Amino acid sequence: MSELCIRGGNRLMGNVVINGAKNAAVAILPATILVDGVSTIENLPNIDDVIILNKAIQSLGATTQFLDEHTLEIDASTLNNTSALDECISKMRASYYLIGALVGRFGRAKVAMPGGCDFGGRPIDQHIKGFEAMGATVKIEKNMIEVTAKQLVGARIYLDVVSVGATINIMLAAVLAQGTTIIENSAKEPHIVDVANFLNKMGANIKGAGTNVIRVRGVEKLHSGRYTTVPDQIEAGTYMIAAAITGGDVYVRNIIPEHMESVSYKMREMGIGIEEGDDYIRVFSNGRLKSTNVKTLPYPGFPTDLQPQMSVLLSVADGESVMIEGVFENRFQYIDQLKETGAIIRVEGNKAIIQGVDVLKPATLKATDLRAGAAMILAGLKSEGGETVIHNIKYIDRGYEQVEKKLSALGAQIYRQ
Ligand code: EPZ
Repeated sequence: MSELCIRGGNRLMGNVVINGAKNAAVAILPATILVDGVSTIENLPNIDDVIILNKAIQSLGATTQFLDEHTLEIDASTLNNTSALDECISKMRASYYLIGALVGRFGRAKVAMPGGCDFGGRPIDQHIKGFEAMGATVKIEKNMIEVTAKQLVGARIYLDVVSVGATINIMLAAVLAQGTTIIENSAKEPHIVDVANFLNKMGANIKGAGTNVIRVRGVEKLHSGRYTTVPDQIEAGTYMIAAAITGGDVYVRNIIPEHMESVSYKMREMGIGIEEGDDYIRVFSNGRLKSTNVKTLPYPGFPTDLQPQMSVLLSVADGESVMIEGVFENRFQYIDQLKETGAIIRVEGNKAIIQGVDVLKPATLKATDLRAGAAMILAGLKSEGGETVIHNIKYIDRGYEQVEKKLSALGAQIYRQ
C-alpha cells in the first residue's frame, strides 16, 4: 500500500490550478443515464471516484470513452441493465445517485447500498421519502436497495434534513416524471446547482436550484449535449489552508471565489491575507494566525468537508479556538491522529476545543477518510524536525487529483512511496 511522505517547514509559493468538483462529477455521471443519447462532460477531476462510476455506468450497458483525462463521453442510449450490485459500488456514497437516475429513466433500480466515509449514521431515509412520495416502491434487503415504479408522478416533498444527496437524488428521479415535483428545504451547495444546470442543458426543466425550494417539471426525454463541471470548492479550500498554514503566498486558480465566501471570511478573521480575482483567490500569510471559532453548516455555511483541514489550521493559531461540527453526527475521528502531531484538542460531543501550538511534530499517521487524509497532509506541511508518513492514502486519491504533484510545484517536500 503506498503512502505519502512529507517534510514540513517550507512556505508554499506560486500557483495551483483547481480541478472540477468531485461532488458535482459523482452526481453528473449517474445523471447521464437519464439522457437517451450522448453526454460529453468536461473538466472532470481525474480521481478514483470518477473511474469507479465510469465502470459502473459501463456495466449498465452504456458505452463511454475518455476523450482526454478530464473529458468523458457517455452514450446512454444503449443502456439496458438497471442493476448495479458490483462491490465497488458499495465502496462509495455517491453510488446512490444511480438509483434516482435508473428509476427516473426506466422505473426500476437495484443498487448495492451506498458506503462512503463513516461519520456516524449516514441514513438515506430522505432519499426514500422522496422516491415513495413520487409513487415508487422501495425494498431494502441484505446489502441492496431496490426501487420500482410503474410511473413516477411529481410530488411535493419536504426534506426533514437539509441533505445534498437527497436533494440531488430526488431531482434525478423527477426529471422525466409525470407532472411537477417540488423539493422544499432543499440543500443549496454549488454542486447541486451544477447538476441542475447539466440536466437543463440536456432538456430538463428545473428551477430554483441553489435555493431551498426546487421545482422540477417532468419532460418526455433528455437529448445529447456537452457540459463543463464547476471547479471544486473543497479542493480549493484545502489549498487555501495549505498556503496559510505554511505562511506562504499562493494563487488558487480556476475557481469561483463566491463559492469560497465562508472560508475566505473565516481566514480573514485569522489575520490571513485574502485577495479575490475573477477566477482566483490569492492567499498570503506571515505565519502568525489568530484563533477563531467555526461551525460547519450546509451551504452557504462553512463546509463540513473543510472541517478537518480547518481544525489543523486552528491547531497552530494563537490561543483557543472552537470547531463545531453542525452537519454530521461524528466527524472528529481524525482528532486522535492529529494529536500524534502535538496538537492540543479536546472533543466534547460535536465540539472540538483547540489550544493553538507554535508548530506540529512529524508523525506516522493514517487517513481515516478523504478529508481527514487531506488534513493529515496539512499537519505534515506544518511539522518540523523530521518526516511525516501518511498511510491509507487511497482515501485521498478518491478526491484529490495529483495531490503530491500540485504541492511539490508549490515548494512542498512531499513524495509518494
Ligand atoms: C454529500 O454527502 C457529500 N458527498 C459529502 O462530501 C458532504 O460532506 C455532504 O454532502 C454534506 O455537504 C457527496 O456529495 C458524494 P447529506 P451526503 O445528505 O449527500 C443526514 C466528501 O468528502 N441525512 O447532505 O451523504 C446525514 O446523516 C464527502 O466529499 C439524513 O439524516 O450528505 C447528515 O447528518 C464526505 N437522511 C446530513 O443529513 C438522509 O436521507 C447531511 O448529509 C440523508 C442525509
